[in-house]
Amino acid sequence: MSPPGESGEAALPEDFSGDVTGDGVFLAVRDGYDAVYGALQRGETFNGIWREHAYGGDFPAEFAHIGFLTVSEARRMLGLLGVRDGDVLVDLACGAGGPGLWAAQESGASLIGIDPSPAGLSAARERAQQVGLAERSRFADGTFERTGLVGGVADAVMSADAFQYAPDKQAALSEVFRILRPGGRLAVIAFETEPAKVHGLPVFGVDPVSDYASLLQKTGFAIDAYEETPGWRERAYAAFGAIVKARDALAAEMGERAASSAVAEATVTVQLKPYGRRTLFAARRPA
Ligand SMILES: C[S@@+](CC[C@H](N)C(=O)[O-])C[C@H]1O[C@@H](n2cnc3c(N)ncnc32)[C@H](O)[C@@H]1O
Repeated sequence: MSPPGESGEAALPEDFSGDVTGDGVFLAVRDGYDAVYGALQRGETFNGIWREHAYGGDFPAEFAHIGFLTVSEARRMLGLLGVRDGDVLVDLACGAGGPGLWAAQESGASLIGIDPSPAGLSAARERAQQVGLAERSRFADGTFERTGLVGGVADAVMSADAFQYAPDKQAALSEVFRILRPGGRLAVIAFETEPAKVHGLPVFGVDPVSDYASLLQKTGFAIDAYEETPGWRERAYAAFGAIVKARDALAAEMGERAASSAVAEATVTVQLKPYGRRTLFAARRPA
C-alpha cells in the first residue's frame, strides 16, 4: 500500500470499513487498538518506528505511546492544566498510560486513566509499576461519554490524540464538565475534521467536528487556549510510510491481526492530512 495523496483517496483498511454507525465505529476502533496494545510487548519494531517518526523520539522511552504527542506539546498541556502536587488528574483515552503517567510524574498529581481497551489498561497498570507510580495511579474501563467516575472528582482532565473517536462529542464534553470540580481545567489534543469532507468515511465520518470551540462554550466551559499543533502532518506521513514498509516484520512480531490494525490506524490518521487539523485546546469549568 502506498501513502494516500492530497486527495486522501487511500483504500480503506478492512478493519475500519463496514459499519460506520457510532456503535460500529466505537467497537472497530476499540478492538483495533486492543489488538495493538496486546501485541506491543511482543517486539520493539512498532514502538521504535512510532517513537522515531510519530513523535520525534524525545519522549522518555518509559512513557512511550502510540499518538503524536511530543514532549513540548505535553509540557504545554501540563502548563495549561496548572496541575499541582496532590491534584487528581484524569487522562481520558489513556491507552497504555504513557502520556498520563508522564504528566503524573512531572506534576506530582494522582492519575486516573480511562480507556475502553482491556489490553491498554493492563499495559498501563504494568507500566505504572515499572515507573514507580502504581501507588498514585489507577486505570479503569470507560469512554469519553461514560467515564464511570463520580462528579467533581477531577482537578484536571487531559486527553491526547483520541477525542476525534468519540461518537458523540457533545455528550463527551458534558461528561468532562461533570467530572471536573468547579474551577477544574481540561486540556486536549485532538483532530478536527470538516464534516463535508469526511462525510461517509468510516471512523471520522461519525460526528465529525470542525471546531470544538463552539461545543466547549455551549457546554459551559471558558476557553483558555485554542491552537493548531505544528508538524503533525509530516510526522503522520513519515510514520505511515515506515509502518507500511515494515508490515511483514510487524506481522511476524505482533501477529497478523495487530499488524493490520497498526497499518489501519496509521492509514486513518494520514487520511486526515488533507481533511483535518490537529488542535490543542484548553478550557476550564467556571468556579
Ligand atoms: C491513538 S490512541 C491514544 C492513546 C493515548 N492517549 C496515547 O497517546 O498513547 C487512541 C485511544 O482512544 C481510545 N478510544 C477509542 N474510542 C474511545 C472512546 N469512545 N472513548 C474513550 N477512548 C476511546 C482507544 O482505545 C485508544 O487507546
